[in-house]
Amino acid sequence: MAPGKVEDVETPRDAIDIASTRAPNGFETGGEHGLNDHPNSLAEGKPKNWIPIAEHVLWKPTKKVKMISIGCGFSGLTMAQKIQNAYKMDDRVEHVMYEKNEDVGGTWFENRYPGVMCDVPAHIYTLLDIPNPDWPAFYATGGEIQEYLLKIKKQYNLDRDVVYNSKVTSAIWDEKEGKWHVKVNKNGEEIEDSCDILINGSGVLNAWSWPNIQGLHDFKGHLSHSADYKEWSKNQSFDGKRVAVIGNGSSAIQIVPELAKVASKLTNIVRIPTWISAPFAEDLSKAPGTNPKYTEEEKEEFRRNPQKLKDHRHELAHAFNHFYEALIEGSAANQEARRRTKELMEERLKGHPELAAKLIPEWSLGCRRLTPGNGYLETLTKDNVELLVGHIDKVTEKGIQMKDGTFQEYDAIVCATGFDVSFKPRWEMLGKDGRNLAKEWANDAQSYFSLCVSGYPNHFIFNGPAGPVGHGSLSAAIDWSANYILKWVDKVAREGIKSFDVKKSIQDDWNVWGDELLKRTVWASGCRSWYKNGTTDGRISALYPGSILHFKDLIENIRGEDFDITYHSKNQWSFLGDGFTQLEVDDGDLAYYLTC
Ligand SMILES: Cc1cc2nc3c(=O)[nH]c(=O)nc-3n(C[C@H](O)[C@H](O)[C@H](O)COP(=O)(O)OP(=O)(O)OC[C@H]3O[C@@H](n4cnc5c(N)ncnc54)[C@H](O)[C@@H]3O)c2cc1C
Ligand SMILES: NC(=O)c1ccc[n+]([C@@H]2O[C@H](COP(=O)([O-])OP(=O)(O)OC[C@H]3O[C@@H](n4cnc5c(N)ncnc54)[C@H](OP(=O)(O)O)[C@@H]3O)[C@@H](O)[C@H]2O)c1
Repeated sequence: MAPGKVEDVETPRDAIDIASTRAPNGFETGGEHGLNDHPNSLAEGKPKNWIPIAEHVLWKPTKKVKMISIGCGFSGLTMAQKIQNAYKMDDRVEHVMYEKNEDVGGTWFENRYPGVMCDVPAHIYTLLDIPNPDWPAFYATGGEIQEYLLKIKKQYNLDRDVVYNSKVTSAIWDEKEGKWHVKVNKNGEEIEDSCDILINGSGVLNAWSWPNIQGLHDFKGHLSHSADYKEWSKNQSFDGKRVAVIGNGSSAIQIVPELAKVASKLTNIVRIPTWISAPFAEDLSKAPGTNPKYTEEEKEEFRRNPQKLKDHRHELAHAFNHFYEALIEGSAANQEARRRTKELMEERLKGHPELAAKLIPEWSLGCRRLTPGNGYLETLTKDNVELLVGHIDKVTEKGIQMKDGTFQEYDAIVCATGFDVSFKPRWEMLGKDGRNLAKEWANDAQSYFSLCVSGYPNHFIFNGPAGPVGHGSLSAAIDWSANYILKWVDKVAREGIKSFDVKKSIQDDWNVWGDELLKRTVWASGCRSWYKNGTTDGRISALYPGSILHFKDLIENIRGEDFDITYHSKNQWSFLGDGFTQLEVDDGDLAYYLTC
């Protein structure tokens, strides 16, 4: 055997510890886990942190890291793609993904309301390294995105590690073992599992919630929520019905034009005005305002010439990422965007000054998530459509009573009223010393870079509190987050790390800095939004303080100094091995560093 070379043995960690107590000549050297403290051990008389030399090259993983991912939407699929294909980590990682639904897709599996679309140009809303030359048009519908996800799932075997119909119900940290113990409800049966690293990819917009409106469930007509896919799957007809759509967030703005086409009367009930913008980056499409289709020739060219597709995506992403500038309060870019959007809204509401007065906000453009409501404003001017601004008092068996005393009967009520965006885990989540994340985050959720939480070691979140969800394409941010997570996984595998936990003081300092930075943004201006957990002037808990490119740069490397780290070995340098590198063992180019 070459010096330093060890056989690849896949053994449980305990077995490895015992194996590592033997030098190649069979000489007992003492273990890494306290065996050297044994009275008969040759460690006698040696320093307390003495360990035997581990007989392998530098950074050789000695055991697979077991990872459990919760959820298989864009985040879970991105993890699968990187572990299986991009970084080929199967030698270091055992991955299990629990998904509560019967298929992958998350947002795009569940949101099936009429008109559901992605407002990021389709070519930059893909897994970053799996572009799709076949997008039918500049913007994709929800169904087309789900089709793309199902296609790549099959093509790259991305659900190899997915266990479907399995909802995680509990995750409890075991400090002694350095493991998470996880409970899962699989088709009604409880199963138990455990892992070294737990990944929460359960989606910040995945738990839809009924609005808190008195009498809502007394309604005898058809009641639905925009994100309740089981209800939309029934293809309930709205033809000729009197329909109320509650809300004017991004979902309602897409639903209203669709239902207004078939309803005898549609009433959109809103509490506050909102900015309706032009479609994002539409000037880069060949026919702005029309969601132009890609021709068969264009698609063929994208298939034949990947550089052409790359150039197109590059142009779109560059333009898109510019938008952060316009999210700075008082910036010239924001004022210009506001002027143009106001003009556009007035133009689209021409002849209806009363609607313009009700709909154009005082607060800054971009404070709430900006939505390019294709056809929304035009729909509000139609004869069968009414905009009702005010507060709902209660819902009765037959209709909706407003606080001003007016009452209208409806056949159907659609609640486009959003999600539980509190970030509280929707399962029992107990960290160090039994601390409970749902309780800690009952009033305010704070994280480290949106990815980790102090007190909950070996745990990552995709798009957690203070995440990069305020502008840009989330698929890019998910890709970068996955890279960061997998750098940690690799480090854990190669350095024999038992646990890593971000320091509370570091997390606190980052949040205080972030709160200060966010005061410069339009998100702080006086609108109610889910970025502030449904409040008008609460803390901006959902958004990353800075641009998404700032986020990308910040998480490019692990800042180990921000973490408390423990090791399986009592001497952290065990992973240095026998003094050889893999290159030497492989008879590689030993002068590789001479580049000029
Ligand atoms: C209607 C709508 C439109 C959107 N449009 C855009 C857009 O235009 N551009 C953009 O960038 N972003 C958009 N978003 C945000 C979108 O959510 C993200 O872009 C992205 O899809 C999030 O992926 P994810 O995997 O992190 O989460 P999700 O897609 O929410 O997936 C989470 C998965 O976790 C599973 N899960 C949850 N809890 C459990 C549990 N306890 N156990 C097991 N599995 C669980 C869910 O079933 C789901 O499959 C939109 C969101 C919505 C709701
Ligand atoms: N890209 C897209 O095309 C797209 C489409 C859909 C969703 N999304 C994503 O999903 C997020 C959530 O969008 P969403 O529209 O589902 O939710 P949302 O933005 O949170 O909007 C919820 C709407 O419901 C209203 N509402 C809530 N409770 C109410 C009550 N009790 N009475 C009356 N009105 C009530 C809110 O009113 P107030 O404003 O008065 O609070 C608001 O208008 C978006 O911000 C976006 O990130 C994106």
